[in-house]
Amino acid sequence: MSYKFVRVAQVLLFISLAYTSNAQAPKGPSANAKIDALIKKMTLEEKVTMIHASSSFTSGGVPRLGIPELVTSDGPHAVRAEHGRDWELDKNVYDSGTYLPVGTCLAATWNTKLGYDFGSVLGSEANFRGKDVILGPGINIIRSPLNGRNFEYQSEDPYLVSRMVVGYIKGVQDQGISACVKHYAANNLEKNRNTVDVNMSERALREIYLPGFKAAVTEAGVNTLMGSYNKFRGQWATQNHYLMNQVLKKEWGFKGLVMSDWGAVHNTMEALWNGCDIEMGTDLSMLPKPNYGKFFMGDTVLQLVRSGRLDESIINEKVRRILYVMYKTNMIDGQRKKGAYNTKAHQQTALKVAEEGIVLLKNDNKLLPLSSTVKSIAVIGYNAERKQGMGGGSSQAKAFYEVTPLEGIKYVGGNKVNITYSPGYKIERGATADRSMIRQAVEAASKADVAVIVGGWTHGYNYSVWSDNAYDAEDVDKPNMTMPFGQDELITAVLKANPKTVVVLMGGGPIDMTQWVNNTPAILQAWYPGMEGGNALARILFGQVNPSGKLPMTFMKTLADAPSEKIGITTKDTQRLYYTDDIYVGYRYFDTYKVEPQFAFGHGLSYTTFDYSGLKVQGGKNKATVTFTVKNTGNVAGAEVAQVYVNQPKSTLPRPEKELKAFEKVMLQPGQQKTVTLTLNEDAFQYYNDGLNKWVLEPGAFNIMIGGSSRAIKLNGKVTLK
Ligand code: BGC
Repeated sequence: MSYKFVRVAQVLLFISLAYTSNAQAPKGPSANAKIDALIKKMTLEEKVTMIHASSSFTSGGVPRLGIPELVTSDGPHAVRAEHGRDWELDKNVYDSGTYLPVGTCLAATWNTKLGYDFGSVLGSEANFRGKDVILGPGINIIRSPLNGRNFEYQSEDPYLVSRMVVGYIKGVQDQGISACVKHYAANNLEKNRNTVDVNMSERALREIYLPGFKAAVTEAGVNTLMGSYNKFRGQWATQNHYLMNQVLKKEWGFKGLVMSDWGAVHNTMEALWNGCDIEMGTDLSMLPKPNYGKFFMGDTVLQLVRSGRLDESIINEKVRRILYVMYKTNMIDGQRKKGAYNTKAHQQTALKVAEEGIVLLKNDNKLLPLSSTVKSIAVIGYNAERKQGMGGGSSQAKAFYEVTPLEGIKYVGGNKVNITYSPGYKIERGATADRSMIRQAVEAASKADVAVIVGGWTHGYNYSVWSDNAYDAEDVDKPNMTMPFGQDELITAVLKANPKTVVVLMGGGPIDMTQWVNNTPAILQAWYPGMEGGNALARILFGQVNPSGKLPMTFMKTLADAPSEKIGITTKDTQRLYYTDDIYVGYRYFDTYKVEPQFAFGHGLSYTTFDYSGLKVQGGKNKATVTFTVKNTGNVAGAEVAQVYVNQPKSTLPRPEKELKAFEKVMLQPGQQKTVTLTLNEDAFQYYNDGLNKWVLEPGAFNIMIGGSSRAIKLNGKVTLK
């Protein structure tokens, strides 16, 4: 193709993108006209300043025209501490804020209202701290249990992600702050994130990896989106024509701006053409005197436009999107909310999310809640006294305070219970079980009525962002699913000394429990539960709170069972990754291939019991309505997440054994019952046929399955769609 032809075609594409994306006025024609007028007044240099970083967390502004810098902050579960403009730490600033539970804990609440509250806290604290954009939510699909960043994300299931993400984003943006959904797309492992080229079928992309992002754009109206580090089908994701221009901006009509992940742009032309609006990153090479003009979307752009090799309209389109977001969030001409910091209400949200997100995995003989006859508890395990907030990488949270599990147990247990503590293991990668530490723990356990071991994964150490001992962290993947630091031996020994042992696991996902799971009466999954996590956990242990969290991901027995390992490829250090597990991610794999998980997707116990009855399924035109009753048949109030799964037994392309398509969290007093009515729209029945390259609804019979987890189906129905 001739150079001229390419130029004309590219300019036409940009005009069409600007049109389809409607990337102009947030507030009708006047804002639109204001944006036009501003762009007209700007020099080329000023425009280019706006499309790249001006410091580690800002992009450029134009003071002459009243255009401020865009100030970003991580994300996703706190407003991050100040880092100066270029990582020279600011001292004496008030930057210890509300530390919310991590993404997996939020998703485990299955409570969309809490998603909104969570976002509101972030929006409000961002306002207080003078930030314009919160770099969250992170919503990459949890495909492999090894991904070090799963804790920041939400689920293996695209429907659950989509429901939680809308609340989060609206919560942030109703405070007048922009959310930034990340990392688009297919950044499902960390170790090779800067080099790996991810390939997958169009069906897997559409059915599994994109729905959360689509909901963020089309339902929540997210203002900004971050492109990921990896390549996708041979082209860097941040500058990927298909992902950015075609799908995000054209198909979904995204109106806001795309920013790169930090340092994710790799060349100028591709980034400019393929939808990246702001290149973010830190100019580390030039510190302490950074030169952001050196960025790919910096001075080179000036030369390209001046020499006629690049049409200025392409830069205008990016500036227009940035100004759109600025007008929408009152950064220009407007009044911003003041926000609030460290309020009781924010801390209560942190508590509530932890209380509803901690999952009771096992509870034999009703060991929990601890009865009033329990007079002594041996608390064991390093995670009981460890503060977690600063772990994990860019999502580190400098907390106003953080209640550890040990503190929570002491506080809620009060002085009627005698509590001892022994760490039980050392946090040291590769360390085997320390005999004398195990001996101490065993001795304490044998003298106590109950032992509570708080262990699991680790999340950074000693307030450093990354460390050798971080398993749940950015830039890190787990080597396997084996419990680190000799914890298997510790738990086995403690169980022998005191069979009344509760195991509490921290971490972003599953750990291999096969050595002790059968002998352990009670197990809780506590994720990283935020600043109020210790209180939430203790309130659950002592029965002040009835657990209602449900796993947002399958807990497989061993790594060998994980579909990413078994039918996909994960652990090979390969630069080109093919997701051969395709759409069979999480329970879609376990249920279709009949592999027994340790704990199923959607699983989570309560201190009460629930009964399901009276299913009615009514078919309509391309949709169905399901009605059923949930009753609390126990003695305490509790909440049940009723889950609706759909299956199509006969279809042109094979479909999973079940797929989550609706859910509702129902709060019930003892003996109370509620009738739940949920609508299954067209998309609940469709799948993506990549032979035809479109979503299809193939008429026929569909099975409807309802229950308390993907493996605890209580009601079965059918509907036939014509
Ligand atoms: C992470 C992003 C984060 C950014 C800024 C990157 O390394 O991948 O999630 O928002 O840094 O801290």
